[in-house]
Amino acid sequence: MVEKTCRREDFLAFSPPAIGEEEVAAVTEALRSGWITAGPRVREFEQVFAERVGAPAALAVSSCTAALHLALCAHGIGPGDEVIVPTMTFAASANVVEHVGARPVLVDVDADTLNLSVEAVSRAITTHTRAVMVVHYAGHPVDLDGFRSLCNQHRVELIEDAAHAVASAWKGKPVGSGENMAAFSFYATKNLTTGEGGMLTGAPELIERVRPLALHGMSRDAWRRYNKGESWFYEIVEPGYKYNLTDPAAAMGLVQLAKLEAMQARREEVADIYDSAWSGSGLVRIPVVRKEVVSARHLYPVRLVIERLSINRNRFIEELSRRNIGTSVHFIPLHRHPYYRDRYGYRPQAFPVAEDAYRRLVSLPLHPGLSAGDVEDVVGAVNNVLERFAL
Ligand SMILES: Cc1ncc(COP(=O)(O)O)c(C=O)c1O
Repeated sequence: MVEKTCRREDFLAFSPPAIGEEEVAAVTEALRSGWITAGPRVREFEQVFAERVGAPAALAVSSCTAALHLALCAHGIGPGDEVIVPTMTFAASANVVEHVGARPVLVDVDADTLNLSVEAVSRAITTHTRAVMVVHYAGHPVDLDGFRSLCNQHRVELIEDAAHAVASAWKGKPVGSGENMAAFSFYATKNLTTGEGGMLTGAPELIERVRPLALHGMSRDAWRRYNKGESWFYEIVEPGYKYNLTDPAAAMGLVQLAKLEAMQARREEVADIYDSAWSGSGLVRIPVVRKEVVSARHLYPVRLVIERLSINRNRFIEELSRRNIGTSVHFIPLHRHPYYRDRYGYRPQAFPVAEDAYRRLVSLPLHPGLSAGDVEDVVGAVNNVLERFAL
């Protein structure tokens, strides 16, 4: 299949979901159960997920964005407050800060991991800072010990955007096992998917504070109103949101959770093959994984050594696409988006690391469904483009 041009016959999608017959059967069973909104499967998913990551408590919601929003609500963050957010993240991390009327303060990232560093964040803390939102970029955990002590010292909240970090661990402790709030994503491309979905973990009192907010601010959810022997009565205790997960989605999540270890093992195998293909390359830089962490290997973002290539990153992506390899870019730094740039007057010079990385970043396909042949095709196509355009 791999010819001289290294063009695959069919297009290799960047990140299709790994859905098997077990998920289809579990969702079908949920659909036939007569209960298709949040019910017993959602509660079971919360419990099993909390056990799996060692979380003190968990709340299943409709997305990681919803979970992040609720985390800010749990701490009463609002107008006049600042929340520190890395510039190298997806818009959801900062958008939710805007939603509560607070100000996202964008901070540049560390050159090695593209995560926030404790030093950079400590320089950005002001008297208005109420929380630091760290993002475990590509599944590589930030220095959680360092951030916990920094946040304690300044009496600010630590919120983890763990969208990429299902199955990540910091010094042996799974991401999500802390008392602070962590928000996970089960979006279609994530390591564990429910199509759309998310989970918020943290101390039981924080989770219980926001549980009603995830469902209109009602004192009793539908499961506790429509079941035999339950009362129809409810009260609105605050104007909440419609952020609940559904039972069919939770049924899918339970199956995915049971398969997570095997899916992670395949991700690691593929990432190892990529690592050995390019660890000595002078044309491309592989992602760093520090010794003290387990990375969920959600993404495989390489950085091109563009000084030694005759093409730029965009052209590199086009060349891979011509060879039928799907890729993506994680991320367009937030300070470059018109909303954040214009509202806060951010200038690229303030974010030298993210600016430099952005010109070089390409995320290669990394998912459990990749066959040995697919991985060979990716390595072959990347090497072919690198050789062809090396200076
Ligand atoms: C870093 C990060 N945070 C938050 C999100 C939002 O996740 P969701 O789509 O589940 O709301 C994403 C989604 O890709 C993400 O990459």
